[in-house]
Amino acid sequence: MALRVRNLDEAVAFFSDVLLLQETLREQGRSYLTCNDRHHELILIEGPKEGCDHIGLEVEGPEALQETLAAAESAGGRRLGPVAGEPGIAGGEFVEGPGGHVFKLFYGMESVAPPPDDPTGVRPSRFEHVSLKLVNPGPMERFLSEGLGFQFSDRMGGKMASWWHCDPDHHGIAIQRAPGNQLHHHAWTQSDLNAQGMTADRLAARGQTLHWGPGRHGPGNNHFIYFKGPSGALIECCSDIAQFGPESTYEPRDWTFRPSSVSLWGGVTPPRFILAGAPLVRG
Ligand SMILES: [Fe+2]
Repeated sequence: MALRVRNLDEAVAFFSDVLLLQETLREQGRSYLTCNDRHHELILIEGPKEGCDHIGLEVEGPEALQETLAAAESAGGRRLGPVAGEPGIAGGEFVEGPGGHVFKLFYGMESVAPPPDDPTGVRPSRFEHVSLKLVNPGPMERFLSEGLGFQFSDRMGGKMASWWHCDPDHHGIAIQRAPGNQLHHHAWTQSDLNAQGMTADRLAARGQTLHWGPGRHGPGNNHFIYFKGPSGALIECCSDIAQFGPESTYEPRDWTFRPSSVSLWGGVTPPRFILAGAPLVRG
């Protein structure tokens, strides 16, 4: 996940303090942070406008990159050229989706010494998924499935929202119909609901409260909390997300759009969750 922030020092401090991310490298106004043995799971880029710079998707290698780029282009994507000078990866190329969201297809992520064990479980094990807002979700569904090879997981209210996976996790990308094209949230995998409670404690100690949660979503079945991060997008901390695979009993379906589908534990979806979103900003 690559985000644009106005104050790099403050943003790095936020992710270090709230999610216990560790900075691998800082150079040229960019900070590369991780929560595991991968060189980076998050890139923070300092600049005048905050928002979403791009979303990283890993492919197997140079051949898979070329195949995926060709498929992405014929499914409505626009190639933006190779990734230049990014530390920690062997190569990649940017492609813009039909709603203007930019994806970085990359391969060859470098390994680093992981941060020390975190007994609280607050530090995520990995980056998990993004949720994107789109004026017109239809072309994006085609781009994800035919262009990037994602598979259908669930939808809600017809074309109102849909969830897509590229590995056993129920969703790597979720999309929802909205008045503008934005990044709604980026999500991180934690061990259990207790870790989300301790993350909320860390936020409260900074004087910040949750936007929503804790709860459990219908589509994906994952525990969630949401809070606002330095890019303007919401951050979700997740656990227990449904898994696809040979053993899976999860059945994709079209959920009725109602609060009890969005949150199995009940309650009304707060307007500040629905209205949240960060602009798409490129340097
Ligand atoms: Fe999510």
